[in-house]
Amino acid sequence: VGRKVIEVTPEELAKHSTADDAWIALRGKVYNISPYLEYHPGGEEELMKGAGIDGTQLFDEVHKWVNYESMLEKCFVGKLKTTPVQKR
Ligand code: HEM
Repeated sequence: VGRKVIEVTPEELAKHSTADDAWIALRGKVYNISPYLEYHPGGEEELMKGAGIDGTQLFDEVHKWVNYESMLEKCFVGKLKTTPVQKR
């Protein structure tokens, strides 16, 4: 109740790009994929292509239909913080 979801900036996301500390953003949600690496059917190397970045496009190019939201439920880190376009 009232628990605040943390917001991850792209800068913070980029810091988590090694196998033992890998985060990926998918449709605005950030996940820690390190525990999943060894189970990824497409291999660690493929999955690591999305580490530290918004991997949505890479993900969709290969398997748009895969239900990562339920698969990675326990790996949820927070929401990707997007910088709104400046209006002036
Ligand atoms: C295969 C899950 C991210 C590349 C698969 C499969 C699953 C899966 C379940 C098997 C699909 C099937 O056989 O129909 C995930 C999840 C991801 C993720 C939960 C979320 C982090 C990625 C990313 C890439 C990638 C970012 C590439 C940059 C691949 C490839 C295969 C594959 C190439 C095909 C393997 C093959 O057919 O031999 N993934 N994946 N995946 N994945 Fe991922």
